[in-house]
Amino acid sequence: MPLVTTKEMFKKAYEGGYAIGAFNVNNMEIVQGITRACKKLNAPVILQCSSGARKYASHDYLVAMVKAAAEETGIDIALHLDHGPDFETCKSCIDGGFTSVMIDGSSLPYEENVALTKKVVDYAHAHGVVVEGELGTLAGVEDDVSVEAENASYTKPEQVEDFVNRTGVDSLAIAIGTSHGAYKFKPGQKPQLRFDILEEVEKRLPGFPIVLHGASSVNQEHIKLINEFGGEMPDAIGIPEDMLRKASSMAVCKINVDSDIRIAMTAAIRKHFSENPTHFDPRQYLTPARDLIEEVVSHKITNVMGCDGKNG
Ligand code: G3H
Ligand code: 13P
Ligand code: ZN
Repeated sequence: MPLVTTKEMFKKAYEGGYAIGAFNVNNMEIVQGITRACKKLNAPVILQCSSGARKYASHDYLVAMVKAAAEETGIDIALHLDHGPDFETCKSCIDGGFTSVMIDGSSLPYEENVALTKKVVDYAHAHGVVVEGELGTLAGVEDDVSVEAENASYTKPEQVEDFVNRTGVDSLAIAIGTSHGAYKFKPGQKPQLRFDILEEVEKRLPGFPIVLHGASSVNQEHIKLINEFGGEMPDAIGIPEDMLRKASSMAVCKINVDSDIRIAMTAAIRKHFSENPTHFDPRQYLTPARDLIEEVVSHKITNVMGCDGKNG
């Protein structure tokens, strides 16, 4: 089964009121945990690699593992570059077997973001690869981020038509209050997303796929396990699942998850070592880690993205 682009996936997801899960992969156990869940639930999936993942595992290993997963499971898998920092990185992924790239020009001045994104789109489209752009920067998690600074980072709906028309991007990541990592809200703070911005974007770009980054929900049981077995993670608050489900039923067609997988893997390994302090065979502690990733992804596909049974 060759890797696919996200074109068809997003079209069907938009029309069907669900989203596709986009999970970050860094090693074999993560690829297998995710794709086993997708196979079981007959769900299409996006496996995405950051620049950090390419540095850690190397481009060729990542491509080979993802291709092996597509071959073994027979489900639709898109291989996506997450947060491409520059044209060269995007080109290297386009030339090297990825079917989708993100060019993240969100921290650049608007006109520079447009120019860089268009340059990537022109190259990608000439090679049959799709492109995700970003407008607005995700809210920070640092304590000293002021409300004004946070407000300034939300996507401005009045820019989206111009950006999409001038760049030719295939999907657009927007900032509506999600953020990367495990600490998305301050302790005691009520999680909120700016659905008014999403609605306005949807009105201005009917039928166009929107992407949500920073969409981990942070499973409290997993944080508890980490801390019960020697970890010291402070209180972590993620995006409530019902909000993500609502976003999936709207224009959001791609939901990015990385932290939830990291947390699950760490929880399983800490628990395993605490119960089996003499073990030293990596297969012994990576097996429960892979199993818990499969459980987390299965839950998300069914309860958050709603893409179970949507493969093919
Ligand atoms: O959005 C960022 C992803 O979670 C990837 O993180 O750059 O540490 O691989 P990373
Ligand atoms: P989380 O840190 O919420 O998992 O977000 C991951 C992400 O957006 C990858 O691009
Ligand atoms: Zn991201």
